[in-house]
Amino acid sequence: MDDILFWGASGQAKVLHEALAGSRWRLVALVDRIALASPWPHVPVLRGEDGLGDWLAARPGGTTGLHAAVAIGRNDGSRLDTMALLRRHGLAIATIIHPRAFVAADAALGDGCQVLALAAVSSHARLGDGVIVNTSASVDHDCELGHGVHVAPGARLAGEVRVDDGAFIGTGAVLLPRRHIGAGAVVGAGAVVTRDVPAGATVAGNPARPLAR
Ligand SMILES: CC(C)(COP(=O)(O)OP(=O)(O)OC[C@H]1O[C@@H](n2cnc3c(N)ncnc32)[C@H](O)[C@@H]1OP(=O)(O)O)[C@@H](O)C(=O)NCCC(=O)NCCS
Repeated sequence: MDDILFWGASGQAKVLHEALAGSRWRLVALVDRIALASPWPHVPVLRGEDGLGDWLAARPGGTTGLHAAVAIGRNDGSRLDTMALLRRHGLAIATIIHPRAFVAADAALGDGCQVLALAAVSSHARLGDGVIVNTSASVDHDCELGHGVHVAPGARLAGEVRVDDGAFIGTGAVLLPRRHIGAGAVVGAGAVVTRDVPAGATVAGNPARPLAR
């Protein structure tokens, strides 16, 4: 068994913890910037970077045999920033694949990716660092996902879709084959994306259109 800690102690931590069942990882600590009760009585919640530093200093062996994962679902860049912070503390970032997820043997996953329960990543898909393919989402053949992309629960990416860095695909959205989602764009829950989405845009509906503000 290897030890792992999560940065983030709320919803995404619960989903991620579920993915550790039957794996080589044992969750030993959570870190959060705000004071939160631990969802698991035996796992302490450390307060921010100072709490993490103190805990590592007191841990026999320091960072030896310890990995980390970032349990932050929102797409404001904080997942990638937190991965960098954890690396600065000497922690390796784990890629976590739920035992009931499917990842094709020839798919390529970056550091710190999370593929959760019943999700699928198909043949020749390529995922950057810190990508989440959430519960029951699917990323089909030859899709290319940039760093920090989050594909929310139940979203469907057809073949050869490209999603640039930091974009968020809302729950249950459907992306038609070969569509391109620009960096930092947001696809609303349930949207059907029939056209390319420019960087930074928010689209919703069927067919997906820029959201009226
Ligand atoms: C698209 C989205 C980002 C917009 O959020 P927002 O900017 O806060 O938008 P608002 O809630 O203020 O809604 C603005 C308008 O868009 C509509 N709208 C919002 N989301 C919509 C959606 N997914 N589909 C269709 N219309 C939507 C609202 O009804 C509202 O319309 P109105 O002005 O006529 O009342 C958000 O609604 C969404 O779908 N997020 C995805 C959430 C998700 O999948 N989370 C998964 C977590 S793991």
